[in-house]
Amino acid sequence: MEQQIKNLVSQMTLEEKASLCSGFDAWHTKAIERLGIPSIMMTDGPHGLRKAKDGGFGESVPATCFPTAACMASSWDRALLEKVGAAIGEECQAEGVSILLGPGVNIKRSPLCGRNFEYYSEDPLLSSELAASFIKGVQSQGVGTSIKHFAANNQEYRRLVVDARVDERTLREIYLASFEKAIKEAKPWTIMAAYNKLNGEYCSQNKYLLTKILREEWEIDGIVLSDWGAVDDRVKALEAGLDLEMPGNGGLNDKKIVEAVRSGQLSEKVLDKAVERILTIVFRAVEKRKENAVYDKEAHHILAEEVAKESIILLKNEDQVLPLREEGIIGVIGCFAKEPRYQGGGSSHLTPTSIDIPLEEIKRIVQDRAEVLYADGYDLIIGETTSQLVGEAKEVAQKSDVVIIFAGLPESYESEGYDRQHMRLPDGHNLVIEEVSKVNKNVIVVLMNGSAIEMPWIDKVKGVFECYLAGQGVGKAIAELLFGKGNPCGKLAETFPKKLSDNPSYLNFPGEKDRVEYREGIFVGYRYYDKKDMEVLFPFGYGLSYTTFDYTGIKVEKKELNDNDTLKVFVKVKNTGNRAGKEIIQLYVRKKNSLVIRPEKELKAFDKIYLGPGEEREISFVLNKRAFAYYECEIKDWYVEEGEYEILVGKSSREILLKETVNIKSSQKLRKSFDRNTILQDLKDDPKGEEIYNKIMELVAKKSVLGCENNELIRMFLSQSPLRNAISFSQGLVNEDMIDEWLKQLNE
Ligand code: BGC
Repeated sequence: MEQQIKNLVSQMTLEEKASLCSGFDAWHTKAIERLGIPSIMMTDGPHGLRKAKDGGFGESVPATCFPTAACMASSWDRALLEKVGAAIGEECQAEGVSILLGPGVNIKRSPLCGRNFEYYSEDPLLSSELAASFIKGVQSQGVGTSIKHFAANNQEYRRLVVDARVDERTLREIYLASFEKAIKEAKPWTIMAAYNKLNGEYCSQNKYLLTKILREEWEIDGIVLSDWGAVDDRVKALEAGLDLEMPGNGGLNDKKIVEAVRSGQLSEKVLDKAVERILTIVFRAVEKRKENAVYDKEAHHILAEEVAKESIILLKNEDQVLPLREEGIIGVIGCFAKEPRYQGGGSSHLTPTSIDIPLEEIKRIVQDRAEVLYADGYDLIIGETTSQLVGEAKEVAQKSDVVIIFAGLPESYESEGYDRQHMRLPDGHNLVIEEVSKVNKNVIVVLMNGSAIEMPWIDKVKGVFECYLAGQGVGKAIAELLFGKGNPCGKLAETFPKKLSDNPSYLNFPGEKDRVEYREGIFVGYRYYDKKDMEVLFPFGYGLSYTTFDYTGIKVEKKELNDNDTLKVFVKVKNTGNRAGKEIIQLYVRKKNSLVIRPEKELKAFDKIYLGPGEEREISFVLNKRAFAYYECEIKDWYVEEGEYEILVGKSSREILLKETVNIKSSQKLRKSFDRNTILQDLKDDPKGEEIYNKIMELVAKKSVLGCENNELIRMFLSQSPLRNAISFSQGLVNEDMIDEWLKQLNE
């Protein structure tokens, strides 16, 4: 194939080659009939197919609306995401779509990002692993994916021009890491370059991102395409590694490419390479096309329900108010019970094949065993309420044994294209919850929102379910969980802080004018809240079940290892309740006494298992070098500090139940250089330098300007001083020649 493509490229005119580097229209690549080059189609998006009927941006053909990424991620279930990917892949085949524009793996830096619903997590490992599964699923059907938006696209405000200023370590450990595993492991056919700038250069023409990282380091074999309208300078972009500009540009940018080659500004070889890569993907897509493909709508709808059920999180269950019994009077309040919010706004917004309505599903479950009352509570569109609506809600609540309030964010509150203004629910939703909880003690809140919210009423209600935007199966999924026809098993893939100002990006989000500085560095999400030992509303990794689990028997395969070894960790988990259920087991790593600034702990492995009542299983995790490493900018590589590491296993980032310690030897040595301004502490910490340090201390103690009464005090004082000061502190017993000699020895 490679040779055939090269032959084809050699037959193309310069104009034809340039034309292939941009779309034909909003969704297609160009065909060149003369050479038998076909066109392929790509469409959004991350949780279901959005193929516009009009070929533009209008209404789309019906497709299954699976839970959004924020919701699916809460399942922590790789196999499930792969299944969803495969189902969407089937739908793509049935609609003749060759590339799906997803998944979105940008890190949730702030709860305010309008697109958080489309992204998985605040943690790069969780995000990247889930994305890998999703990509594998889609691509198993012969349909490509486009992992997006590469990179540091973490806000909607000024998204087409904003310059994200991120330091190298933060980029590597957080923002690039969310892409890295997915790209290396699942090999997406395409990667979408983001709108924004990264450290001064547009991502779509950023050589560091597109060539150094993607091609040289991660060795991608797919193509890089631009987000829709992200290209500023087409020639620069091509040179930086952007193969395909989307959508089409009416031929204008193609001309610029031609001119640049003619004038010698751009090497034709660069163009040829891009065309070769594009053709590889085009022919791969054509080869894998399944003619007359169909999919089973009903089966996909059932899958959407299953995924929602596996992802919805039980956040509170006081006095075991849940699961509900099918008896008495059940009050249902809130328009979302009749018109649920189940997907987000923007390019991922699709036309579902059907929708489960929560209120109807609740009624279907209880049949005539219980009476169901209903009140709107608030206005569906703007989320505000009136005294009449509150009055009706309270009347229902007063008559009911238990009340389920459906609340969340109306569509206008969050969307692609703009960020949220605050982290609150609409005042109307909050007021209804407050007022209803005054007249009924058994209130359960069911939330539908794309991102973390504040819950000022949390102590006044007994139960809370977080559905996120759970797709077209949300109605049945939530009804079944409410009544115990299924056991909640989702856990948060992001922290819910108590209030917005607690969030680490608060002082620098969304930035000033066209520039946003990521000054919180690597301290994103729980990495920050844990380091600061802050109280949060709900921590990363948190979620309840109707059963209970016990963790015992942590074992590590070895206590001493080298940084290139793998380490197996074993844990036993037992279902100690009387209901079957699933548990998400999380493994975090902490470096003890690190010499660099590091988070308290970082997620390095996780698993989700099913256990029947009383059942126990031993599970194992395998950790490799990366689980212990941080990105060391000095050597431009991942580096494992020598010393002790704690392996922490628990139910959430704040509920660690088991701990083991291992000792790791490092195979890499950081090159240190010493000079007159090296402080004595650094000499002390160095095996070669320690002797010199002791010598200096000895001489200073003999004849110090500091006085010799308290040696310890002198040591402490001196250890923070540079080598050159040893001369004056020892009143000349240390001299310039000695310093030169020591430096020579140290730097050898
Ligand atoms: C979005 C992408 C999307 C593309 C095509 C852009 O505005 O940022 O995520 O895939 O449009 O709809």
